[in-house]
Amino acid sequence: HSADALRTDFMTITRFVLNEQSKHPESRGDFTILLNHIVLGCKFVCSSVNKAGLAKLIGLAGETNVQGEEQKKLDVLSNEVFMKALISSGRTCILVSEEDEDAIFVEPSRRGRYCVVFDPLDGSSNIDCGVSIGTIFGIYTLKDTDEPTIEDVLQPGKNMVAAGYCMYGSSCTLVLSTGAGVNGFTLDPSLGEFILTHPDIKIPQKGMIYSVNEGNAKNWDGPTATYVDRCKFPEDGSSPKSLRYIGSMVADVHRTLLYGGIFLYPADKKNPDGKLRVLYEVFPMSFLMEQAGGQAFTGKQRALDLVPQKLHERSPIFLGSFDDVEEIKALYAAE
Ligand code: AHG
Ligand code: MN
Ligand code: MN
Ligand code: MN
Repeated sequence: HSADALRTDFMTITRFVLNEQSKHPESRGDFTILLNHIVLGCKFVCSSVNKAGLAKLIGLAGETNVQGEEQKKLDVLSNEVFMKALISSGRTCILVSEEDEDAIFVEPSRRGRYCVVFDPLDGSSNIDCGVSIGTIFGIYTLKDTDEPTIEDVLQPGKNMVAAGYCMYGSSCTLVLSTGAGVNGFTLDPSLGEFILTHPDIKIPQKGMIYSVNEGNAKNWDGPTATYVDRCKFPEDGSSPKSLRYIGSMVADVHRTLLYGGIFLYPADKKNPDGKLRVLYEVFPMSFLMEQAGGQAFTGKQRALDLVPQKLHERSPIFLGSFDDVEEIKALYAAE
């Protein structure tokens, strides 16, 4: 009937989160307001990404960030947009961004009880050639709102109250977890609203895809090298896995979440901590993976148990389908 052909009832992300929050009687709508500001940032970045070539947004900004990376114009612009959106929400207290060396403490008059850690634009190297990029965020709640300290964000990932990412791909998709499963929303550009399109995402128990920068193979440790070798030459006679690697964590993780498989950015001889940053890359993605029924492992422990010592700390990461991560865990345990 007509309802199949034409949608007339829209589960927007705001409506969805308000529904979810209404299950918590203590909720005061603060989270919904915060999320609305994050969504605004995502919509802005999405539209900037779409017209990057036209709006002279391609190329370098001329500065180097604390990671030693040359910032792209879109890295800088996205960071500014998210910073302003988060501060003006009146619901944040401490902000940690990949692009800023120090944490930003929001001035007392505009403070709220949330701390947000984020990667404003993930996959910078893919901007100029039109390949999918994204934004990653994780949210903590303050313990004590009077005297916020850096310790409030140096918490293990399992303490996050929410995490998500927005992918600027063939469509703009926002994937969110508030600790009760994972849901995906797609931006309807004509409405300017994110609509629930991927309810209750569960990652397949086992996948047929592995995702890694194999150009680093020369410097891998034993378990990683063995694992990837087995992906290509399975010992049990099963079919080899396919390799997919985009080089944007958001896009690689998004595919892993929907299709199953494993994404890894392991340690190597040159980078004993791998490349990806704990607070705003490893934690939010690990949170989502666990919420979707998968696992996330650092090579030593459950990723969400890690206690970061520094804002921009890095860690090796193996995340994805439960059974696939189980295999890599076994290899490291046998070391
Ligand atoms: P960012 O663009 O935010 O600095 O992150 C880049 C990261 C991540 O998106 C991706 O998984 C990884 O870098 C790719 O690294 P390689 O180019 O070393 O494979
Ligand atoms: Mn970067
Ligand atoms: Mn990144
Ligand atoms: Mn980035």
